[in-house]
Amino acid sequence: MSNTGPPEHRGRDLDDRGEIVEFVTRFYRDIAQDERFHHYFHTLAAVDWHAHTLELTDFWAGMLLGEPEDHRDAGEVIEAHRWLHDADAFDEALFDRWLEILNTTLDDGWAGPMTDTARRRGHGLAWAMAKRLTGHATRRT
Ligand code: HEM
Repeated sequence: MSNTGPPEHRGRDLDDRGEIVEFVTRFYRDIAQDERFHHYFHTLAAVDWHAHTLELTDFWAGMLLGEPEDHRDAGEVIEAHRWLHDADAFDEALFDRWLEILNTTLDDGWAGPMTDTARRRGHGLAWAMAKRLTGHATRRT
C-alpha cells in the first residue's frame, strides 16, 4: 500500500460497513507501522492481517451498527489481550499511543455522530483494558 501524505477525508460519517472496512484498514496500517506495536503484531502474535481485518471489522461494525446484543463482550476482548500483556507488559504510554492513532484516523477520515460514538467506545474500552490489565486507568476523554 502506498504511503503518500494523509489519507483523503471521506466527507461523511462512519456509518456503514464499507466505511468501517476503510477505517479498520487505515487504523491498523498506522498501528502496524508504529514501532511500539510492531512487536505485538509481528513477533508475539504473528497476526494474519486478512483474518484480523475481518475480525476487527465485525468488532467495530457490531459496536456501531449492531444491536446491543451484537456488541462483543468487553471483558472477553480485554482477556484476549492478557497473554500479550503477560509476555510484554502494556503500559499507559502504549494505550495513549493507541488512542492517539485512533483519534487521528477518525479526524482525518470521518465526521458525525457515529464517528463520535466510535471515539467514545474506543476510549471506553481502552480505559477499561488499561485498568484491568495494568491497574492504571488511561486518560478518559
Ligand atoms: C493498546 C494496546 C493494544 C495492543 C498492543 C493490541 C494488540 C492486539 C493483538 C496483537 C491482537 C491479536 C491477538 C491474538 O491473535 O491473539 C489483538 C486483537 C484484538 N484487539 Fe487489540 N490491542 C490493543 C488494544 C486494543 C483495544 C483498546 C481494543 C478495543 C477497542 C482492541 C481490540 C481488539 C480486538 C477486538 C481483537 C480480536 C480479539 C479476539 O481475538 O477476540 N485492542 N490486539
